[in-house]
Amino acid sequence: MQAATYDLEARHPGWPARLGPLKVAAGTVALRPIRLRDAGDWSRIRLRDQAHLEKWEPTAPGPWQDRNGFWSWPPQWLALRGLARRGQCLPFVITVDDEFAGQITIGNVIRASLRSAWVGYWVSSTAVAGGVATAAVALVVDHVFASGGLHRIEATVRPENDPSIRVLTKAGFRQEGLFQRYLDVAGGWRDHLCFAITAEETGPGLVAKLVTAGRAEHV
Ligand SMILES: CC(C)(COP(=O)(O)OP(=O)(O)OC[C@H]1O[C@@H](n2cnc3c(N)ncnc32)[C@H](O)[C@@H]1OP(=O)(O)O)[C@@H](O)C(=O)NCCC(=O)NCCS
Repeated sequence: MQAATYDLEARHPGWPARLGPLKVAAGTVALRPIRLRDAGDWSRIRLRDQAHLEKWEPTAPGPWQDRNGFWSWPPQWLALRGLARRGQCLPFVITVDDEFAGQITIGNVIRASLRSAWVGYWVSSTAVAGGVATAAVALVVDHVFASGGLHRIEATVRPENDPSIRVLTKAGFRQEGLFQRYLDVAGGWRDHLCFAITAEETGPGLVAKLVTAGRAEHV
């Protein structure tokens, strides 16, 4: 198959961008670049949602309260913005009905003949089970294949994380294998299932497929 062409001179193809909107059961989903002024919403939701999030996230030093306090957002925002400006990641906020509702990030972007990256996401406990993460994955994957110069997106997920496995399956990812003791998550080396999708597999696009399946509507 012919490889997709994109601007080889661009330093950060596909970034910045605003994606959506797309209507799902939970509301109207859109993606926009992270902002410094997201600190308040980001911290409030993550402090409240420790039990919902911590068991699935990479182990990090220090207590959850410190790592997710208001003042821990600015350095994260700065680091992600720097990576985005170097074309190494695309860090989006997920909004539902224009309110901050989570994050979705395309990370570890490798170009040249690999043109691959991973996708990671979380959604506020008040917005789950309404199709938000699936819509966000579909929007971002379509975007990085069409405008980001990428060919393959990978997602790794703990075998116990049924909602996230469901998200990837609904979005059209295929399971490739099991990485044993792959990632230090919640204080231990955890097995992860590897899911992936390549541009050839998206057909009319993941968003178009969600709409056809009745899981989302264009607004
Ligand atoms: C995983 C996560 C992002 C899903 O977000 P979401 O917006 O609820 O996702 P969606 O609504 O698009 O899809 C979730 C699916 O899982 C299903 N689900 C929810 N809880 C479930 C459970 N305990 N067991 C099995 N399926 C479950 C939902 O019913 C839905 O499937 P359906 O549309 O067929 O009914 C969210 O739960 C989250 O942030 N979890 C914590 C962080 C995390 O796990 N991140 C991913 C790490 S790989």
